[in-house]
Amino acid sequence: MIRPVELIQRKRDGGELSAPELDELMLGYARDEIPDYQLSAFCMAVFFRGLTSEETHALTEALIKTGTTLDLASALGRKVVDKHSTGGVGDKTSVAVGPIVAACGVPFAKLSGRGLGHTGGTLDKLESIPGFRVELPTDEFIAQVREAGMAIIGASADFVPADKRLYALRDVTATVDSYPLIAASIMSKKIAGGANAIVLDVKVGDGAFMKSLDAARTLAKAMLDLGRLSGREVVCLLTDMDQPLGHAVGNALEIREAVATLRGEGPPDFVELVLAAVTRLLAVSDLRIDEAEARRRAEQALDDGSALAAYERWIRAQGGEPDEEVLPSAPVVHELEAPRDGFVAALEAVRVGEAALHLGAGRQTKGDRIDHAVGIVCLRKRGDRVSAGEPLAEIHAQTEEAAALAAQELLAAYELADEPPPERPVVLDVLS
Ligand code: URA
Repeated sequence: MIRPVELIQRKRDGGELSAPELDELMLGYARDEIPDYQLSAFCMAVFFRGLTSEETHALTEALIKTGTTLDLASALGRKVVDKHSTGGVGDKTSVAVGPIVAACGVPFAKLSGRGLGHTGGTLDKLESIPGFRVELPTDEFIAQVREAGMAIIGASADFVPADKRLYALRDVTATVDSYPLIAASIMSKKIAGGANAIVLDVKVGDGAFMKSLDAARTLAKAMLDLGRLSGREVVCLLTDMDQPLGHAVGNALEIREAVATLRGEGPPDFVELVLAAVTRLLAVSDLRIDEAEARRRAEQALDDGSALAAYERWIRAQGGEPDEEVLPSAPVVHELEAPRDGFVAALEAVRVGEAALHLGAGRQTKGDRIDHAVGIVCLRKRGDRVSAGEPLAEIHAQTEEAAALAAQELLAAYELADEPPPERPVVLDVLS
């Protein structure tokens, strides 16, 4: 039996831990045999001392061993591809990516999470669709992927349980932003979920964990390393999160925007990111096509309506009503006007996310209920020209008072200038 204090001390002093030691630490934690305070100290030691590639790999495997795993490749008889985003504002990518991938003949089976703080979660967005079931037993999940081509559900409680606890602990001990801890946390869930190939969307900017391109590259490299050591193909897209993705921030508003995108009417930055992700997913799938052909097929699925049809099939299969008319809408829609002429020089993602959160679109604490109808539509984004009095954004709120408060917050998110800012593409780099 290991003595956790010795492992903490060794890591604190810059030493290395072995795979069996990390296994015992994580299993002991998952079984409640090792207390939170020792894991807090362990995470802080890792925060300062880091982990080697081998240790990060061993930690990932140790996390996986604390719960159940899915073997989707055997169940579906196909190579399984998966995507993951490190989280941002207005990030409804999976809701549009899944149907396009499915329409191109590649099964899309995804376990998603909920939002906390200023970033939203795919499950919360999907729950704005009346009737949609985010919890399915594994056999139904697999049957749906086989029959409807795709499914997105929440992970069950026994799926990488040590990560769930550890993540909550890191959240309150200032140890979330440690590269090896983030890499192991994300990759443990992707590997346990049965993915053979994984496309990771690493967000960069004020609305993301990774504030700089260098930081995002370091995290991406840690996850590429884990992919190599675990025998999984990994591609990392480094993408902009200095401003919200697309226009819509808030659950039902984001579902509407994802559906508009599947109809071929999406905002350019969002469409570009969706196509970039689908292209890589198809290129690593068992279709055996290169990226140029993958991009062509993805665009075709949008043009010929097959992606929209795949969305409708998916939502119905999971108990929901795909017609947008049934999505909740807020009683108050308030326009925020530009205070002056100029160009949008910046639109701070984190402030937009917080304004949406305060309207009720997200959770401030774990137990909070989400209001699916409210949110923000950023009509003008970086680089757009506006005249004084023209609308910058729409605020969807329950009351005039809530809208007025959000307007103040949102105005602070917009920076207007006389000159347009330098262009910044949504996909900043791709590592594989
Ligand atoms: N997302 C995760 O799943 N884990 C982290 O540690 C950070 C982001």
